[in-house]
Amino acid sequence: MSETVRIASVTDIPPGSGKEFVVGDRVLAVYNVDGEFHAMDGICPHAGGPLGKGTVTGHIVTCPWHGWQFDVTTGRHCLSPQIHQTGYPCRIVEQHVWIDLP
Ligand code: FES
Repeated sequence: MSETVRIASVTDIPPGSGKEFVVGDRVLAVYNVDGEFHAMDGICPHAGGPLGKGTVTGHIVTCPWHGWQFDVTTGRHCLSPQIHQTGYPCRIVEQHVWIDLP
């Protein structure tokens, strides 16, 4: 069953950063790229690293464990686009970040 969850206030995730959130049995990575919010599966497909705790440069996040890089706007791995994190739509309503989960 799909649901929409309030994940954070916009001020919780400053521009140029990301954060990890656990919602039920999901780990989500949510990023603020110049005021636009993007959410994707927060578990790195390489070895399970926390993508929400990675370094964000522009719209690229670098996994803190071994350096795999993903475009947070698409979820695609930067070198191997066939590796793709599931993304989730984000909306801002009254300064809160909401995410639609399937
Ligand atoms: S776990 Fe993310 S690069 Fe290895």
